[in-house]
Amino acid sequence: MEIDNLTFKKICKLVYDNVGIVLNDNKKALVSARVRKRMKVLNIDQFRDYYVYLQHESSGKELVQLLDVISTNVTHFFREAEHFDILSKAATQWVSRGQSKFRFWSAACSTGQEPYAMAMTLSEIRSMQSADLKILATDISTQVLSHSRQGLYEEKQLKTIPPKLKNKYFEKQQNGEASFEIKDSIKKLISFKRLNLAKPPFPMKGPLDAVFCCNVMIYFDNKVRTILINEIYRLLKPGGYLIVGNAESLAGLETDFKTVKPSVYLK
Ligand SMILES: C[S@@+](CC[C@H](N)C(=O)[O-])C[C@H]1O[C@@H](n2cnc3c(N)ncnc32)[C@H](O)[C@@H]1O
Repeated sequence: MEIDNLTFKKICKLVYDNVGIVLNDNKKALVSARVRKRMKVLNIDQFRDYYVYLQHESSGKELVQLLDVISTNVTHFFREAEHFDILSKAATQWVSRGQSKFRFWSAACSTGQEPYAMAMTLSEIRSMQSADLKILATDISTQVLSHSRQGLYEEKQLKTIPPKLKNKYFEKQQNGEASFEIKDSIKKLISFKRLNLAKPPFPMKGPLDAVFCCNVMIYFDNKVRTILINEIYRLLKPGGYLIVGNAESLAGLETDFKTVKPSVYLK
């Protein structure tokens, strides 16, 4: 059974109003399948009854659950390898100029591969080891955040990590399954928090050195994208970097960012 048009539109509006994710008509089958998961848990048969429940559930917990099933969390370690080279070069330069405090942000961290890859990259810079280094990693989905905090991955998920880093920063778990846990020396650099990118202003103080905001703006429209990147601009230091996904760009958005190369921007 597919969702009826009216309920589909109402759910799309609710999702857009809350988190800025645009769900077009071509997402109807996907939304049906994902909402049905929640209906099963709640023992609700009809989509319209689910919507009524969602509206009247005053704690907001069901909305969090809905957003968990709606969001697309595909990611992997060192997804766009060049971005980590840019991070490494910039941080090496900053530290060599005497900077000792560093604040980085992975803005849509999903299951943690991106901030952990940032932390491994930065930990490989020798002079960074005595620096005051913190990485903030945020997402809207509570499920992916709890996965991130655990830092546990199956062996096949580690394929894109350079072997040297895999051997250095992961420990094989002796629980029968082939799972690997990221070491505490990396975990302790990162704070995982729930944050809605569609609702600035954000509580961080800044100034931030670099922000990875990758493969999330594709789900937003230009109105939400513009608000988001201007907030990132406000939080970055002059000379700080904004890195977006390779399939994304700031073209057509009103912003003061300078383009370094496609998907890499400078304040
Ligand atoms: C495709 S993943 C990107 C993961 C990682 N940045 C990468 O490039 O591999 C997109 C993430 O954006 C999150 N997301 C979607 N809308 C969001 C919002 N309004 N605020 C914060 N996170 C959001 C989703 O939960 C999902 O984990």
